[in-house]
Amino acid sequence: MYAQLVETGLKQVRAAADMDADERAFQARIDDGIKIEPKDWMPEAYRKTLIRQISQHAHSEIVGQLPEGNWVTRAPTLQRKSILLAKIQDEAGHGLYLYSAAETLGVSRDELLAALHSGKAKYSSIFNYPTLSWADMGAIGWLVDGSAIINQIPLCRCSYGPYARAMIRVCKEESFHARQGYDIMLALCNGSAAQKAMAQDALNRWWWPSLMMFGPSDADSVNSAQSSAWRIKLFSNDELRQRMVDQTVPQAEFLGLTVPDPDLRWNAARGHYDFGAIDWAEFHQVLKGNGPCNRERLQTRVQAWDDGAWFREALVAHADKQAARAASGEPQ
Ligand code: 3HC
Repeated sequence: MYAQLVETGLKQVRAAADMDADERAFQARIDDGIKIEPKDWMPEAYRKTLIRQISQHAHSEIVGQLPEGNWVTRAPTLQRKSILLAKIQDEAGHGLYLYSAAETLGVSRDELLAALHSGKAKYSSIFNYPTLSWADMGAIGWLVDGSAIINQIPLCRCSYGPYARAMIRVCKEESFHARQGYDIMLALCNGSAAQKAMAQDALNRWWWPSLMMFGPSDADSVNSAQSSAWRIKLFSNDELRQRMVDQTVPQAEFLGLTVPDPDLRWNAARGHYDFGAIDWAEFHQVLKGNGPCNRERLQTRVQAWDDGAWFREALVAHADKQAARAASGEPQ
């Protein structure tokens, strides 16, 4: 199935000869590294691809708050609690920047959220796993936010202006997220044997799902060919995954932890780590909604949307009243 999809994906990449003048001019701008802005002409397929990716990225930020929210009241110290709260708050802001970037493509926030709540739109598979111990807060910051940084730094240079600019602030904040996570892991690994075992257990559970964050293998990536041609994707899924492994294994060694992959070994000839096979069946099951926490995550988001309806209605009523006053010349 995937091979055909990839085949279709490759066919989507239109050869210059098949492009009309507008498309050729557009592609020339992309190839010259000129940013595409909301008011510029763009192929409908480019707009749709960006809405797909940016909205799913935004959904990931919002849903991604849930696993960590589980540990705010259980943080071991007031300092750890305030750091975790700051991180979770940052993620809400990341969702805001990204929804705003998606809205520049002519789609409303309500449409995007309806797609999430109906299960039509995806969010990152990683957020469908449970957070079972405080060490998970460390593993998420270190591995998940660490992976997000590797994936998001190139996006600061992607072809769509609003997306690239949103990523600059996101990446600065992600660095704090990754550092605070690694700091938690360091404290646990320098702690008691039980604390170090907790950190190892978290690494065992989060390692492989973090590798899956980068998407299917290049051979199975239906969108990569076109997204690369449009310089939305500057590196392939496998290239960024390899970067994450190469960066993270020495960090695990420094912690005195073992990466749960018996096939992991440094390949001097390649200058990279070789690593074991990813369980793509698990990945596809999670994408189908059959991960450990998919239902709970979506239910929580739908409940939050329903519970917040009164507040949104009040804001709109207030805005309408202000607008009516302004129109009638009454003082605001
Ligand atoms: N979880 C869920 N869906 C995934 C996925 C994952 N880890 N990886 C791939 N997919 C989906 C894709 O969305 C696509 O489905 P679609 O066509 O219905 O959207 C399908 O699997 C095939 O994958 P492709 O590689 O062909 O798709 P892309 O070219 O879009 O590549 C991607 C996938 C690398 C995730 C890319 O979309 C991307 O770079 N997105 C921006 C970054 C992002 O969304 N990161 C998510 C994490 S955000 C985060 O971690 C927040 C941090 O603060 C913690």
